[in-house]
Amino acid sequence: MSDRKEMVVTPWQVSGDIDYNRLIDQFGVEPMTRELEDRIAKHAGFKHLQLRRGVYISHRDLDWWLGEFEKGNRVGLYTGRGPSGHVHLGHLLPWFFCKYLQDAFNAELYFQMTDDEKFLHRPGLTLEEAVAFTYDNALDVIACGLDPEKTHIFSDVDHIHHLYRLGVKVAKRITFSTVRAVFGFDNSVNIGAIWHPALQMMVCFLQSEREGENIPCLIPAAIDQDPYWRVARDVADKMGYYKPAQIHAKFLPGLGEGGKMSASQPDSAIFTVDPPEVAKRKVMMAFTGGRDTVEEQRKLGGRPQVCNIYAYYYFLFEEEDKALVDREHACRSGELLCGECKQELARRVAVFLRDFQARRREARDHLDDFLLEPVARKR
Ligand code: TYM
Repeated sequence: MSDRKEMVVTPWQVSGDIDYNRLIDQFGVEPMTRELEDRIAKHAGFKHLQLRRGVYISHRDLDWWLGEFEKGNRVGLYTGRGPSGHVHLGHLLPWFFCKYLQDAFNAELYFQMTDDEKFLHRPGLTLEEAVAFTYDNALDVIACGLDPEKTHIFSDVDHIHHLYRLGVKVAKRITFSTVRAVFGFDNSVNIGAIWHPALQMMVCFLQSEREGENIPCLIPAAIDQDPYWRVARDVADKMGYYKPAQIHAKFLPGLGEGGKMSASQPDSAIFTVDPPEVAKRKVMMAFTGGRDTVEEQRKLGGRPQVCNIYAYYYFLFEEEDKALVDREHACRSGELLCGECKQELARRVAVFLRDFQARRREARDHLDDFLLEPVARKR
């Protein structure tokens, strides 16, 4: 009998033991290759930590999107956030990567805040709270260092007049039976939630629509968002747009056992607004791959492969590949104990948070420069 917990990965729920190879099969996407990682790195001038560590596990049409750029054509980026609360470190992974891609490919980034989606899906969230989180979370997006000239952040609710025309055209090409099958909606789902996918999909074509020419779009996001793009790719054909390309990230695990991040368990994630001492407490309480006693750990060594603390070094907090390997060896050999390893991570997280929070505060003065404007004003 296996004690693995059943995997569920949808845009609204990620739980169980994630088996990425199975997801690649189930979702019908292509595994990432070294050749594609190197092609991105060649244009960027360096290989981003997330590419070196295999954070991006799969893609659709990334080779085509890169090929278009290599032919001298313009390319675009699209990603987003469902603003239902504060941003955690996992959300930042695809946004950091967007910053890297924006610089490398001189690409405009369309950044959608699906405040409507969160309101429609969360019984306890008011629309006013969701919209307020749009502008709070936008500070995190800006703090990632994106270019105000090339970044367009928008709220579905407040910017609907820029979205509705195209949204309706997309919606007309999607049947209820498709969204029911793809998203698993049943008869109890409110009709706003049934409509929302059209609005998340239309952004794949928004830059092309605004600029009056077909621009290849790439979506960096974790793999949970993939169902939208499957449908959007069918719609693209029907509307004469390019199919959107995707690059799918793994999930940064939470800090508790099993690695789940949950809004109902604030200690399972580090939020960008956490005071450094709160983040430190969360790190010190985190689940590790350590043994029950110091003696056992010295004898048997730790298990970085199941350790959330190691995952935080791996995904975000150890830039040097050699230092990461050294840490792994020291852990496995029993030389490095969990307390020490946590202390060091807490120190690095505190340095990161102080810097990020300063950039978040600065972002308040620049928010307007990043918001989506009518076509004529920005270009
Ligand atoms: P949301 O708010 O659930 O997630 C925002 C982004 O963060 C990614 N993500 C993670 N990445 C790594 N590790 C994690 N633990 C982790 N948790 C979440 C998500 O994949 C996503 O990229 N409906 C969307 C908002 C949206 C969107 C988009 C996202 C609208 N348009 C286009 C991506 C691309 C949502 O609720 O995301």
